[in-house]
Amino acid sequence: MKNICVLVSGGGTNLQALIDAEKRGEIQGGKITCVIASKADAYALERAKNNGIRTRVLVRKDYADVAEYSRAMRDALLEEKADLIVYAGFMTILDEQVCDAFPNRMINVHPALIPSFCGKGFYGLHVHEAALAKGVKVSGATVHFVTAECDAGPIILQKAVEVQEGDTPETLQRRIMEQAEWKILPQAVSLFCQDKITVENGVTRVTI
Ligand code: GAR
Repeated sequence: MKNICVLVSGGGTNLQALIDAEKRGEIQGGKITCVIASKADAYALERAKNNGIRTRVLVRKDYADVAEYSRAMRDALLEEKADLIVYAGFMTILDEQVCDAFPNRMINVHPALIPSFCGKGFYGLHVHEAALAKGVKVSGATVHFVTAECDAGPIILQKAVEVQEGDTPETLQRRIMEQAEWKILPQAVSLFCQDKITVENGVTRVTI
């Protein structure tokens, strides 16, 4: 059984999707063993506690710089014996110390079809504001491995979602969560835990 550590910063609806999938027996070969938040008031922590999952809080401003924060996060993840680390709405920058310690063992869900609307500054509602400003007719979500470069790691799963006339960033965000993120994140986690994802030359191969 692989130990899954989930990193969160906010509401935690993606964490909830993972918890619900695990309860339905859809995370084969893995178990959520710890949730680590970058904010003490992240509602995601309540979701973890309500489901008996251990929580930890590592607040960025308690550390001098990104390097010190990253070292603390790496050490916490090593202590937790994490086999898989999932960024589920985790909004704090970590440096290469963390992904070097867990190569191809960290995954992130991003609320757009990478390589569109991704990279520095594209997070949360900003992603959907940018997609609407560009007038794209289709957006979606991507689950990918985390590397030192923001949103640039190997893509595992993607799902497209239609943009509708009159969409606001909030309505588009909700549709993308419901139709894409909450589905492909648990799927990717389950595939990982069953060793069904391989990476070669920056490209993944998924055996379903
Ligand atoms: C989700 O839409 C997630 O894809 C996004 O933030 C939201 C968090 O919601 N993540 C990013 O933008 C990371 N670049 P949640 O806390 O309810 O899961």
